[in-house]
Amino acid sequence: MLNIITLGDERLKKHSILVPDFNGEINHLIEQMFETMYQNKGIGLSAVQVGNMFRIFITNIEKDEPRVFINPELIETSLEQETFEEGCLSVPEINADVIRPAAVKFQAWNQKGRPFSLDADNLLARVIQHELDHLNGILFLDRIDHKKKERLIRHYKQLQKK
Ligand code: NI
Repeated sequence: MLNIITLGDERLKKHSILVPDFNGEINHLIEQMFETMYQNKGIGLSAVQVGNMFRIFITNIEKDEPRVFINPELIETSLEQETFEEGCLSVPEINADVIRPAAVKFQAWNQKGRPFSLDADNLLARVIQHELDHLNGILFLDRIDHKKKERLIRHYKQLQKK
């Protein structure tokens, strides 16, 4: 199992880099990411969260298959937006309502190196937008009201002291 980095780690603010090719090392990383995500009861995890700076994230929401997104690109977003309460394994015990497009069209490569595109809505759309943000150095807390963000970060720091 891999260690998940948390708020305050500077890597969470960095842009991840493109995966240049598909090899055993990438496959091994992805396997470890799934183990780590399941152990922590997450529904999405990006490579940066385990300290790897490649543009990879994985998802597995209820009633859906495990999904791997390598070098993902957002192709289209719906005009319709939705509010949904988000959390993050890198910001344990903190949740906040975040507004995002309700549906998205995505393109990425899977673990076998094959390109695919995906239309997602509801929770899957939510999770993949959250995970793509991680690859661009953005946390869900960066998408909420600034005052509320500061309050939640203070709360988070107090929780960490306990
Ligand atoms: Ni997250």
